[in-house]
Amino acid sequence: MKKSSEKAALEKKLLSLLPAGCAFTKTLDRALVYCMKTGGKRLRPLLFMDVVKAVKKDIPPEMKKKLLDFACGIEFIHAYSLVHDDIMDGDDMRRGKETVCKKFGSSTAILAGDALLTRGLEILYGSFPVAAAMVNAGVGSPGMIAGQAADMAQEGKKSPSEKALWYIHLNKTAAFFAAVCGAGAAAAGAPEKDARRFASFGRRLGMAFQVRDDMLDRGGDMKKYKKSRNDEKNDKLTVLKFYTLAKAMRMVNEISAEAESFLEKLPYDTSSLLEMSGALREREF
Ligand code: IPE
Ligand code: IPE
Ligand code: MG
Ligand code: MG
Ligand code: MG
Repeated sequence: MKKSSEKAALEKKLLSLLPAGCAFTKTLDRALVYCMKTGGKRLRPLLFMDVVKAVKKDIPPEMKKKLLDFACGIEFIHAYSLVHDDIMDGDDMRRGKETVCKKFGSSTAILAGDALLTRGLEILYGSFPVAAAMVNAGVGSPGMIAGQAADMAQEGKKSPSEKALWYIHLNKTAAFFAAVCGAGAAAAGAPEKDARRFASFGRRLGMAFQVRDDMLDRGGDMKKYKKSRNDEKNDKLTVLKFYTLAKAMRMVNEISAEAESFLEKLPYDTSSLLEMSGALREREF
């Protein structure tokens, strides 16, 4: 989905920065390596990098290294969130492979997630502390953890509210997207008002992304990138509780257009972010 050279550099660095496992068992290490080798779109770190590059044209080599580290920290936190999410959702498949909890058991999956989160935060704070605090806030509570708590609490609700739906999407997914974009701007030295605009772009992008995710769980052709499709079985509160697939697609387009309008207000070349938003509208996995 994104420039392959950038993604390749990220893949390589991710493995080299993995947290150390345990002296008494190889299981944790194996789970961590497995988790990072199952792939993924690496969207959040690439988004971070694109924001940085939009704001800052000439990046000195020392800063480049720190930015790549930061990007890896973001992906570790995302990976943790998926590993724990699959335990919570009782999912067996992700990215066409067995989930970490299915392959290694829930206890190892909990610990692998914990290791990824703590290592991720360590890396973030070790490279750009102000940007790190922004990401930390996005993935905490309120933020991703609160969203996940609400997602679980709303499972199987007889008459769920739309307010609860948007709370879940805003917190479990969009808060991280917003934080990553704001953090990219902060790390690149953008003025605060611009960082806020980038965050607003990220928030809408994340909302559209989660609406599309809900759609794909029901209707997507996911042969290549198979995930468990358990939203219906788990009686999750998704957009499809209130809207048809066609209406949901219209919402993806509307929210994405709103996201893109924030880019227009920024005094930078944001064409790569515009392109990413366009590609995500249509994504099939
Ligand atoms: C999945 O995120 C979790 C959601 C917020 C919907 P991605 O679709 O970015 O997962 P990978 O990393 O590319 O597999
Ligand atoms: C998960 O949402 C969002 C996270 C914070 C990980 P989902 O439960 O819809 O994500 P998928 O569909 O399993 O990837
Ligand atoms: Mg899930
Ligand atoms: Mg979930
Ligand atoms: Mg989903």
